[in-house]
Amino acid sequence: MSEAPTYSPGLAGVIAGESAISCIDVERNKLNMRGYDLVDLTEGGASFEEVAYLLLHDDLPNAGQLAAFCDALTVERHLPDPVVQMINAAPKSAHPMALLRTAVSSLGYCDIEAEDNSHEANVRKAVRLLAKVPLAIAAGHRNAQGLEPVEPRDDLGLAANLLYMLRGDDPQPYAVDAMNVSLILYSEHGYNASTFAARVAASTLADMHAAITVGVATLGGPLHGGANEAAMEMMLEIGTPDNARAWVMDALESKRKIMGFGHREYKSGDSRVPAMKQAGQLVLEATGEDRWRQIAEIAEETMLSEKGIFPNLDLPCAYTYYGLDIPIPLFTPIFVASRVSGWAAHVIEQQDNNRLIRPNHNYTGPVGRTFKPVDQR
Ligand code: ACO
Repeated sequence: MSEAPTYSPGLAGVIAGESAISCIDVERNKLNMRGYDLVDLTEGGASFEEVAYLLLHDDLPNAGQLAAFCDALTVERHLPDPVVQMINAAPKSAHPMALLRTAVSSLGYCDIEAEDNSHEANVRKAVRLLAKVPLAIAAGHRNAQGLEPVEPRDDLGLAANLLYMLRGDDPQPYAVDAMNVSLILYSEHGYNASTFAARVAASTLADMHAAITVGVATLGGPLHGGANEAAMEMMLEIGTPDNARAWVMDALESKRKIMGFGHREYKSGDSRVPAMKQAGQLVLEATGEDRWRQIAEIAEETMLSEKGIFPNLDLPCAYTYYGLDIPIPLFTPIFVASRVSGWAAHVIEQQDNNRLIRPNHNYTGPVGRTFKPVDQR
């Protein structure tokens, strides 16, 4: 008789598939991305475009390949009219993540290869999404603020262009560097909730845009990508470094989750945090505003001493984006602009060697009830 499969709540520790894209090396506390240590990529000065290429094409590009990839992204820097109309018609109060989720879905019905799930078409659709998601974020933001849209610039890389389109002025080099590092660190992270959800959708042979829409929807929750916004709201609520320890102690006492802390896989620290803190430092030095980092550090000391729980990437990212003057509701959409690269790589990998993802569950409901017609109940 075969043994009954074991059940793990939240699928913790369950091997749900195979992937050659990335893995968390828990022992060495590193993120291995197609064989490269992610931190080597940020420290070595890689651009987000190089990392996106690595995810979509299995290896880093040479100079010619990178130039061609960047050109392809630049050529796609425009939004179809129906998507622009949808964004402009949305209520100004719409959360940017809700708007972006709808924009990604609408990009699907405007894409000429929407229903072609071949490897080549999937890569082309991924490039179009990578190019257009930052435009959708900026268009939604400018419209909600009652501002004129800012046309993208061909001479700027993805990080610089995103900042430029949000604000309408030339971003400072420190801002571009910090944004670039955050985009690299957010780009891919194995079988996390949104990636897994995107793979489930892709495994039904739903198309790339459908799967990425699922990814956006899943990322938005505060236990996942939405935590970067929630972490900043928390730091604002704390207000001053003097208040930080007592605030965290009170929150723990009342069993509140402290946003930007904890991780399903990392139990001795998120491997991406040191690189993000370093990038955040560039912003603090340039702006002279250190309050939010100080609050984060005190929260970190308190969480470590009281619970042994480390911060995750969302904590330093939150105060870095805040220091860059990025409105809080755009923090998670910017995470999307990056994670599109990882999701797309997973959709491609899933569909290149597909089997429907369809797990089982333990039934915990009643059995054997007798049906009675409605007038007898
Ligand atoms: N604040 C307070 N307590 C926490 C936190 C936290 N942030 N994270 C974990 N814990 C506690 C839990 O309460 C639990 O304690 P208990 O055993 O006494 O009940 C224990 O640590 C284990 O926590 P789980 O929730 O079981 O851990 P899980 O792996 O299921 O959840 C998660 C991981 C969802 C990330 C969790 O740590 C959390 O909610 N963090 C806050 C939200 C957050 O920052 N999310 C971003 C994740 S990273 C990313 O998406 C980029």
